[in-house]
Formats: sequence, structure tokens, C-alpha cells
Amino acid sequence: MSAAGQAGFPEQGTGVDDLLAQVRAERSGDLDWRGGRAFSLVYNVDDPELERLQHEIAGIFLHENALNPFRYATLLRMEAELLAFARDLFGAGAAALSSGGTESIFLAVLTAREEAASRGVVDPELVCAATAHPAFAKACHYLGVELTRLPVDAGGRAVPELVAAAVSDRTALVVGSAPCYPFGVVDPIPELAAIAAEAGTLCHVDACLGGYLLPFWERLGRDVPPWDFRVEGVTSISADVHKYGYSYKGTSTILYRDRDTQQRQLFMYDDWPGGLYASMSAAGTRPGGPIAGAWATMVHLGAEGYLRLAGRVAQATDGFRAAIEQAGGLRITGEPVCSVFEFGADPADDDPVDVGAVADVMDERGWNLDRQQGGLHVMLSPGHDRVVDAFASDLADAVAEARSGRTGAGVGLAYGGVVEE
Ligand SMILES: Cc1ncc(COP(=O)(O)O)c(C=O)c1O
Repeated sequence: MSAAGQAGFPEQGTGVDDLLAQVRAERSGDLDWRGGRAFSLVYNVDDPELERLQHEIAGIFLHENALNPFRYATLLRMEAELLAFARDLFGAGAAALSSGGTESIFLAVLTAREEAASRGVVDPELVCAATAHPAFAKACHYLGVELTRLPVDAGGRAVPELVAAAVSDRTALVVGSAPCYPFGVVDPIPELAAIAAEAGTLCHVDACLGGYLLPFWERLGRDVPPWDFRVEGVTSISADVHKYGYSYKGTSTILYRDRDTQQRQLFMYDDWPGGLYASMSAAGTRPGGPIAGAWATMVHLGAEGYLRLAGRVAQATDGFRAAIEQAGGLRITGEPVCSVFEFGADPADDDPVDVGAVADVMDERGWNLDRQQGGLHVMLSPGHDRVVDAFASDLADAVAEARSGRTGAGVGLAYGGVVEE
């Protein structure tokens, strides 16, 4: 009997070879991220040596648990070094590891809530732009913090005047994105941080997406607006190693300007018959594989490797942007800073192209562009530099088909999803 598609708990076991054959066969129809036509969920580094290293290291540390870091000395050293690397890259005073962007954001919101509580705030509030990642809404929902979301300007950036007007003595955290997911634009961080500092509250920069790319983008000589701890008033930053840090899933870093603020996310408990439970993040058991993978990826690539990969991402970005501009009738939203952006119909066009139809044709040709509310989302990895010409040619055809009267299925479809039985 097939292991796949069973509803009840499997009565009998399935042999390893059978099971692997089944899964391999099933997976052969899944989205092929190595082909360069997938975006955002997998960062295609297109580096076989790095992939070999990651597979090996994941296997070696598959079963280790960093719940008690002192039991696995190698993991402990790797985590400590990894955090030191992150502190050095971002000029942070303290750093901790988490399982992903959402957990890092939870920790930043928790820290802010605790800091506000120490100032007597009992009904804390978080102020951010509407482009902030849904993880902030989720964190506020879980942690009992009120969320104030503000409109953005025509370029998709937070508006300092609106933020200043919204901040009150209840504000626990002012949030900016570097960059935001939907448009890839960087909020005016110096202004937001100054507003937070003036109000005596914390300012978090969500660089989950761009954190490990922007420092190298800057070294390439590209324009990067100020966003990190060099900006006075920025108190914490989230940056995911499993995004442009190029490790496999399961690691993010949460960085603080100073160690005292970071201590607010520490949880200690000894009121039970077991030993002292101390933890810097939400998870209890922490899988060793992602920690080892993140460490090995950074050591293998080094700044030199990250710079080389940033160069490939930049080349892909230039190519995709040129293809969008040349297709006609399309416009990139706002002024994206790096390799993440949205494109949609040019509103100045007398007869705007149906972007849903463009998306349908692109889907038929095997591209998997996410459909946002106002257009299609592009997030480029190093491996996308191989598909620039194919993208340009398919996009030109897609626009031509949309222009010839085809109507599309629409935009604004799923970003995240729920799996039920
Ligand atoms: C800007 C930004 N923040 C936070 C997150 C959440 O990260 P994760 O999905 O790893 O929890 C994402 C994910 O894409 C993101 O783009």
C-alpha cells in the first residue's frame, strides 16, 4: 500500500528503499527551484560546493539538540562563533539565534513590551507602516500588544510625519523595514529612529529579508539608504541567515545595540523539579542542523563569497528590471533598493495591461511569480542570473498576449497558507 495519501496512522511500516522511491517520484513533479523559475521561498545559490557542504553538515548534526548548549560542545562553539560573526557584520552589541524571521520579530516585540513595562506602560502599542511583515501583526496578537499600522507614501515607504503623530507614551516599539517584503523599499530609518529616541522608546529594523545582503550590496558600490546600527536610535535588528545568508531553513539572528536590552528576551525558570531552564528564544528543543549549517555557510563563503554572490544577485536584478522596462506597459513599484520588488501595470498607460493575464501566461511558462494586491513579486537569488534572457522573452510574450485581449485570473493571491487534513 502506498504510504502517501493515507488518512489513518500507518498500520505497517514501509521499507526505506520503497519509501525513498515513492517520495522521489512524487517530488519530481514539485516546483524546481534549481531551474531558476521559483522565487522567494528558496534562495537558489547555484553553488554545488556550498550545497554539498550543507547536505553533509545537516547529516552530521541531524540529531543534536541545542536546548542545553553545554551538552554538545561543537554546536556551542558554532553558535557562539556564528553570533560573533553577526555582531561583527552589523556592529551589534549583542546577538541571539532564532529559528526564523517570525521568531526574531516575536523576540523583538517581547523585548519592547518588557522594556515598556519597566517604564510603567501597561497597554503597549507597536507603530509600523502597512508594509511591515505580517509577523508583526502575529507577534502583537500573541503578545497582547496593540498594532498601529500606518499608510505609506506613493513610493511604498513609511511616512515619518504619520509615525510621529501616532507615537504616544504607550508606544513600546517603532518598526521600520530594510527592505519591506512587498516592494523591497527601505523605510526612512534615521527619521523613524529619531522619532523613537525622542519618545524614549525602542526602534526595531526588520532586515529579515535584506540583512545579509545589504552590507555586501553597499560594498558593491550600490546605493543603500542608512538602516543599521550606524543610525542613532536603532535598538534592534532582525536578519535571517536562511534568506540572503544562504543557509538552509531554520536560522535567523536578532541583534541588539546593547546587551542590557537583549537581556529582556531571556527566560529563566527553576520552579519545577527539573534543572534550571534558561532560554534566549521561544523554542525549547533547538535542532542542531540549522545552527551547524548557518555556521558552516558563513565560514565557507566568508565576506568574499557573500560579495561574489551579491554581484550575481545584482546582475540578475539589472537584467530582470531591464526586461520589465522593455516589455512595455509595466512599472516597478516605488524605488526598490536591491533584488526584491513588485511590478504591475503602468497607471499612466491609457489602456493598462491586465497583470493577471500576464501572470497567467508566465505561470503557463513555468514561472512562479507571487501575485500581490497590486502586481507581481520578484525576489532574486544568485541563480537567477542564468535565466534573464528567458524571463525577458516570456515576459514580452505575456504582455503581448494580455494586450491581445486575454483576461487574467487576478492578483492578490496566497503568500502563506494553512495545511489541514
Ligand atoms: C521583511 C520580512 N520580515 C519577516 C519575514 C518573516 O520571516 P520567516 O518567514 O522566516 O518567519 C519575512 C519573510 O519573508 C520578510 O520578508
